[in-house]
Amino acid sequence: MSKQFDVIVIGGGPGGYIAAIRAAQLGFNVACIDEWKNAQGGPALGGTCTNVGCIPSKALLQSSEHFEQAGHHFADHGINVSGLSLDVAKMVGRKDTVVKQNNDGVVYLFKKNKVTFFHGRGSFVAAKDGLYEIKVVGTAEETISGKHVIVATGSNARVLPGTPFDEDKILSNDGALRMTAVPKKLGLIGSGVIGLEMGSVWRRLGAEVTVLEGLPTFLGAVDQQIAKEAHKAFVKQGLKIELGVKVGEIKSGKKGVSVAYTNAKGEAVSLDVDKLIISIGRVANTIGLAADAVGLALDERGAIVVDGDCKTNLPNVWAVGDVVRGPMLAHKAEEEGVAVAERIAGQHGHVNFNTIPWVIYTNPEIAWVGQTEEQLKAEGRAYKAGTFPFMANGRARALGDTTGMVKMLADAVTDEILGVHIVGPMASELIAECVVAMEFRASSEDIARICHAHPSLSEATKEAALAVDKRTLNF
Ligand code: FAD
Ligand code: NAI
Repeated sequence: MSKQFDVIVIGGGPGGYIAAIRAAQLGFNVACIDEWKNAQGGPALGGTCTNVGCIPSKALLQSSEHFEQAGHHFADHGINVSGLSLDVAKMVGRKDTVVKQNNDGVVYLFKKNKVTFFHGRGSFVAAKDGLYEIKVVGTAEETISGKHVIVATGSNARVLPGTPFDEDKILSNDGALRMTAVPKKLGLIGSGVIGLEMGSVWRRLGAEVTVLEGLPTFLGAVDQQIAKEAHKAFVKQGLKIELGVKVGEIKSGKKGVSVAYTNAKGEAVSLDVDKLIISIGRVANTIGLAADAVGLALDERGAIVVDGDCKTNLPNVWAVGDVVRGPMLAHKAEEEGVAVAERIAGQHGHVNFNTIPWVIYTNPEIAWVGQTEEQLKAEGRAYKAGTFPFMANGRARALGDTTGMVKMLADAVTDEILGVHIVGPMASELIAECVVAMEFRASSEDIARICHAHPSLSEATKEAALAVDKRTLNF
């Protein structure tokens, strides 16, 4: 008899492992299958986020920012550093330690919550007598069965047609996080979230970085006032960003990589670099899932088709995270995982897609929640906008980091906050207040009337709320 579970989760990234833990908390007998291997071939729970995504990128962003601060900004504080040097292998080693701490953390959480873990690839075999049979192929092979299945198999880096990743010269996010020496010249295709974060890391460490972006607009999904401010800061830092390019042939040889492209003026140009990172988006991963075996429906892009509640076309089969529609973000995957576990338990799991925050962890950081000014204009919605620059914030001046602003958008009639957009120091943390405000459907006046600690960056949020009513106090 095969081992039987109430819930089988396929994929141990933020969507899958959180769903498994929540289902176990709700009293179900839960299995989680994940195939990720560490360098020794052992399990490495946590998915893309922990192994080659959120966590390692933030570790390298932090280390490289320390290097940049020590090299270029400590002197402003009267701290003189001499003999500054870089040990990239140690920096990357530290990043690997942080990753391992997170891998081990999930193993601990599975033990604590009594989730049974299977290391290997999970694939559908059949649906029989109200149960789904799932084959697990790892060091051994076995078949388990479960009443409910939650698919959380994540995503992979999109390949530029004709240019597969070799992770030596042509790098995905994986190789971009594993370089052990700073390339003299680094090229990136795609100035999206990965392009800007990875470009920032390697520029701070000394690479000459050129980013080639296909679209004519910089960060098209971001509020354009904020995007323009960020663009100015990145260019000042030395990041070369070319917009509106058409990438042609890419040749990789012993010496490096040559990218032929047409620039925005229509001129044929060539970029020669030592390494090239391609970051042009990600695609849902259903490789090896054998969706056909049970007739699980995929859309034309290969993502699993789900409704607003993450239900697939099959009874008791659910899908969450990067493998389904919606933003490819770890916290979105987690929220969906929790909601699905609660729905299986007969509860009313809920994800509010209007209040999912976005953060780009560059310097300045960029963070936002809700609608942009461009979206409100396109909708024809009457709104009021208030902005407050960090230049006028005492804490930002004390930090020596006054780039950027907080921008708040509120309904012209009801004053309900419709979006908040931040570029500047600690935007990643400041956005949380705005998410809470929007979740509680606060008005800009609510924020304006709340006491914020002084001196703090959060006062800029309060002042942006005051600015909606044209009554800033410090600007
Ligand atoms: P994943 O994390 O991709 O996990 C899927 C897991 O399923 C993997 O372990 C995979 O091996 C396993 N799997 C797949 N198929 C099978 C199978 N058949 N059997 C068994 N196991 C299988 N998001 C943020 O919110 N903040 C960030 O700062 C951030 N930074 C990022 C930086 C980079 C460089 C990248 C690439 C992504 C980043 N993301 C970030 C996005 C985030 O990593 C993803 O949105 C998130 O990991 C999605 O979670 P998931 O559980 O859906 O899938
Ligand atoms: P992205 O969608 O953010 O950006 C891709 C960029 O590549 C776009 O600007 C697009 O116009 C451009 N592009 C596409 N094809 C191109 C081509 N042929 N030539 C030139 N430019 C081209 O995707 P990215 O950066 O790969 O990241 C994938 C996803 O991972 C993000 O969308 C996000 O969901 C997640 N992520 C989140 C992070 C965070 O939350 N801080 C950090 C990193 C990734």
